[in-house]
Amino acid sequence: MKRITLLVLILLACIILLLSNVEIHGSLSTRFIADAVFKQHRFDEGFDRTGEAWRTRISWTSEWDLLIPQTNIVVHAPGWTIFDNLYVMNGTVFVVADAPETIPPRKTLTSTGIEIKGSPELVKARLPTDREMRIISPEDAIELFGSGATLIDGVTWMVNDPPQFIHHYYHFVAELLFGFWRTYSSLDPSISDSGISALSTPRRIWFVHLDANQWRDPPSLNQWVLRGAFPSLTVEYSNDWIDRAELGRPLLLDRVLFTDRAASMQGQHAHEVGRPLAEACALPGSLHWWSPIARNAMQFAGLVDESSLVETGRPVITYISRQKRGGRMLVPEHHERLVEELYSLRDKYGYEVNIASMEKLSREEQIRLAARTTIMMGVHGNGMTSLVWMKPSRHSTVMEFYIPGGFTTDYQYTAYALGITYYGWWGNVSFSDENLPHRAYPEGFHGSQIPIDGAAVAKACVARLQA
Ligand SMILES: *[C@@H]1O[C@H](CO)[C@@H](O)[C@H](O)[C@H]1NC(C)=O
Ligand SMILES: *[C@@H]1O[C@H](CO)[C@@H](O)[C@H](O)[C@H]1NC(C)=O
Repeated sequence: MKRITLLVLILLACIILLLSNVEIHGSLSTRFIADAVFKQHRFDEGFDRTGEAWRTRISWTSEWDLLIPQTNIVVHAPGWTIFDNLYVMNGTVFVVADAPETIPPRKTLTSTGIEIKGSPELVKARLPTDREMRIISPEDAIELFGSGATLIDGVTWMVNDPPQFIHHYYHFVAELLFGFWRTYSSLDPSISDSGISALSTPRRIWFVHLDANQWRDPPSLNQWVLRGAFPSLTVEYSNDWIDRAELGRPLLLDRVLFTDRAASMQGQHAHEVGRPLAEACALPGSLHWWSPIARNAMQFAGLVDESSLVETGRPVITYISRQKRGGRMLVPEHHERLVEELYSLRDKYGYEVNIASMEKLSREEQIRLAARTTIMMGVHGNGMTSLVWMKPSRHSTVMEFYIPGGFTTDYQYTAYALGITYYGWWGNVSFSDENLPHRAYPEGFHGSQIPIDGAAVAKACVARLQA
């Protein structure tokens, strides 16, 4: 009897052991799966770093080799550069190259990051020094860094601009984010209009010269867009940059998208158009380069159904009114006439017509409305930034109203970068990409007496929608 009990006990013990073993195996295999997924998401181009479980450090000296990863410039337009294997130590960026003549001039890569102002002394003060960036040989790098560096993996977006422009929706989204994404997306010419891309998502932004409270805009759209389009992105600021500098250790960054507005002003395109973005737009890329961001933002705004982004056939005209805002406004009677004319288009052709005061809409409503809009119009101003959420199509059009003689490229260039047709208006006269006037800010540019010929605008809408 005792023996049987003993046998049963042993059997039980065996079963328990077996079961717990299975559990161990179970948890092991999920760990393996997690690891495999992690590996897939690893940045696996470039230098071979196998064998480093957590990839926190890379060493390049051993008995049989002495090979430091060199910096590779993957994409470059003035002010918009993608580096692989970029080094940072003590707050200085290091490009390690045994052929320094292949590296573009330093002033087209970076700057001192001070405010951008026109005076010749200040232009000169923006030119980078050895404090901001050095281009060094592998031998010098080994001497400086020692036998290894701490790794910062994945894609880092390093913004070297001062706070000056960033806390403004237009500058943040339609310039900085646009330029960043236009540059990064040049690596994937096959991005489709539904926003599918093989690019790995950026991991982090380093704002080298900004505090945490210096990038948000008053209507809180900057944070909405950034958090909506890149939910996993983390942000570091100037004090984090200083923290890392004071560690005194060399950092090796897998891939860096380095953006610098002052450096882009060194480029010919930016100089001609007056927009830093023009340099990034000169890079090759997909026609649908912006669609991954637009798609993320749309989903975040609650437009989950892809088909709601496709032109349904019923055109949508959205007039963004500033009449109650103060600042730049239409002559009140002209505003009223324009509204009347648009409503008569609705009655005659069945178009959807929206007269929108953006400040009265929630952020989601603003973005959803813009995404459905075929023709967007309004007086020159930040409200026009919404055009970045329009779906480019054969009919999609932006119309911007100015005081006669006045013009600036902000929204014209934004529309152009997306492939949206643009018209500027001076009362009853319009102009387009082919016959743009020079930039000018005559008296009344910022005033409340901007004329518009509502009938002429309505006629132009019909022409565009029936084209
Ligand atoms: C680190 O940067 C500071 C500030 O520019 C400079 O004074 C110092 O000499 C640098 N240290 C090293 C080791 O390069
Ligand atoms: C356009 O506006 C100008 C100035 O208001 C006016 O003199 C001109 O007759 C208008 N032209 C047309 C075709 O309506």
